[in-house]
Amino acid sequence: MTVTIQLPHNNDYNIYINKLDDILLDTKVVIVTNPTVSKLHLDYLKENITSKQLSICTVPDGEQYKNMESIDLILSHCFEHRLDRKSVLLALGGGVIGDMTGFAASLYQRGIDFIQVPTTLLSQVDASVGGKTGVNNKYGKNLIGSFWQPNAVYIDPMFLSTLPKREFSAGVAEIVKMAATFNKDFFEWIEKNDLRNSNNIETAILKSVETKAWVVSQDERERGLRAALNYGHTFGHVIENETNYNTYLHGEAVGIGMVMANELSVELGLMSTDEAKRIKNVLESYDIPTTYKIQDVEEFYDHFFFDKKSLDNKIKFILAKNIGDCKITNEIDKQTVISVLKGFSI
Ligand SMILES: NC(=O)c1ccc[n+]([C@@H]2O[C@H](COP(=O)([O-])OP(=O)(O)OC[C@H]3O[C@@H](n4cnc5c(N)ncnc54)[C@H](O)[C@@H]3O)[C@@H](O)[C@H]2O)c1
Repeated sequence: MTVTIQLPHNNDYNIYINKLDDILLDTKVVIVTNPTVSKLHLDYLKENITSKQLSICTVPDGEQYKNMESIDLILSHCFEHRLDRKSVLLALGGGVIGDMTGFAASLYQRGIDFIQVPTTLLSQVDASVGGKTGVNNKYGKNLIGSFWQPNAVYIDPMFLSTLPKREFSAGVAEIVKMAATFNKDFFEWIEKNDLRNSNNIETAILKSVETKAWVVSQDERERGLRAALNYGHTFGHVIENETNYNTYLHGEAVGIGMVMANELSVELGLMSTDEAKRIKNVLESYDIPTTYKIQDVEEFYDHFFFDKKSLDNKIKFILAKNIGDCKITNEIDKQTVISVLKGFSI
């Protein structure tokens, strides 16, 4: 199955959802990966790639290494292996590897090609598509980066066979996000089908990638619609921050964030309590956490202002409208938000 992402600057590309087939490149290639993924899947990738010169750059595993030091490591590897402007970086790993490889590719000699081979569910359905690249720093997550589209994305569901259950569920949260905000039929399909089944997960990957590709085609630089992909993230980022990024996986925090956002939707009459419950039920059926005890409601609210989407002292909320539609708004008064947050502080 192939999805094409259409972009305005002649940089369309294909996303292949299949067993990995020959990746034929007549250039120097660097595979960027980490020790965990390398041990499990590097040989398989190497069997399926042809290039002029192949080298492997391994960076440490973990969100805490998504930083400029790792970018420096990747760039040094490129210089040491004398990559030229036609060379290609290939990301083999989850969202952390994908985001960093893309960022390094955007910097090396003012930008070279890169390819995504995502190996987590979250990166297959979301992070590998759309060209957002970057790293974290002490001020926050993904605050340094660039828009740099890959030349192709190769999604092989086989990689998921080695993924820990918790990581799989974190990816399901992002699938639910796409369905709840953009596609009611897809959400209803998810309610009826177990995504742990291999045929079903392939269908869900395809649907999610089609949704993301459509959104990015409309709004590559997140001037409007693309912000809807941050449903659950405004609350989720605060939760990740309050818990020092070491309690919840990103997808899990997004899961709780969607439940919080839905309470706000219910309060504003955008969603019924029954619809909010249905979204919560799906998340809970994959053991995605849906509760969080807010210690200090005012402090939680203040944290929203660190969000990249906050502008002119106004918080941008992404809300699901019923199931399958969404609303982006920065016009919600503080009291309404605080009263919803209080529901999570008891
Ligand atoms: N660019 C975007 O549009 C976008 C979108 C969403 C998330 N992100 C970013 O993605 C990152 C999260 O990505 P993630 O959830 O993939 O985390 P991750 O990259 O840290 O991977 C999670 C863990 O799974 C391991 N792993 C990867 N593939 C595996 C496999 N097949 N089998 C066993 N273990 C495997 C990794 O080594 C890691 O330990 C965050 O940094 C987030 O900011 C980016």
